[in-house]
Amino acid sequence: MAGAIRKAVFPVAGLGTRFLPATRALPKELLPVLDRPLIDYAIAEAREAGIERLIFVTGLEANADMLKSHLNLPGDRRAVLEAKDPELGPALAAADLPPGVAVFVTQEEPLGLGHAVWCARELVGDEPFAVLLPDDLMDADPPAIGQLIGAHGTTGGNVVAVEEVSREDTARYGILDPGEVAGGLVEAKGLVEKPAPEDAPSTLGLIGRYVLLPGVFAELGRFERGAGGEIQLTDAMARMIGTAPFHGFKTLGRRYDCGTKAGLIAAQIGLALKDPALRGGVQENLRSAGREWE
Ligand code: UTP
Repeated sequence: MAGAIRKAVFPVAGLGTRFLPATRALPKELLPVLDRPLIDYAIAEAREAGIERLIFVTGLEANADMLKSHLNLPGDRRAVLEAKDPELGPALAAADLPPGVAVFVTQEEPLGLGHAVWCARELVGDEPFAVLLPDDLMDADPPAIGQLIGAHGTTGGNVVAVEEVSREDTARYGILDPGEVAGGLVEAKGLVEKPAPEDAPSTLGLIGRYVLLPGVFAELGRFERGAGGEIQLTDAMARMIGTAPFHGFKTLGRRYDCGTKAGLIAAQIGLALKDPALRGGVQENLRSAGREWE
């Protein structure tokens, strides 16, 4: 039986080129969905799942500074906002983390997701850990990473979140080669990064939630380049198959791929329609805009 997962890695050093020019200066993870930046959703998910230590892998210095300012609001700015209106206190405090929970490490060059995870090796140490990609916004109860941690408690080994994707989209995902299936758990016989539709061993795509054994760091440390010339997490994970249990887990809930414009817009609309305070106004705005398009 596997023990609790205490640490989570948030790779946030990507360049976010699909959102240029919005991401010229702003890190993608600070793009808002409703009134919260993407990073806050992933943090809340991890904290709800009992994660105690949040490890952020940041990139360009200016981007890292903005993320750090958001996670640890500078005192002078807090004072100005509180002086403006004391009622702002709860909204301001909503993003606060207890001291010592968040730690940061730099990825000096954006060499790929696998390399970003490798950069966290000393802060993770020799224990299984979670990885959350904040641009996959998971609207799930219980929290998606908690579901994976639960599955890991049963199977041990590596457990990665998977979702059925359409065959024409396989080249956008790591794809799982399935073995035995038991409920939401799918044994992994292999993993392939971004296969063409005709080469994909299934349509089970890996999405941005993982529970991994620390042995992945040795695989990542070989610095082998994969698809797109990047050091790919999928390739390192694939090399671990056979050395320890490896499963995909179909998480329950909805995923919004906020790394794409369509996904970010869908997240805005989907979450707004769930919120009774926003639903009516959003529906009315969409209806009246729709009338103009007709
Ligand atoms: P993406 O593949 O979405 O790349 O990264 P990106 O740079 O963020 O965005 P685009 O494709 O240019 O628009 C998936 C995750 O891996 C992180 C990203 O921050 C994101 O959470 N990542 C990617 C790194 O931390 N470092 C890297 O070198 C690459």
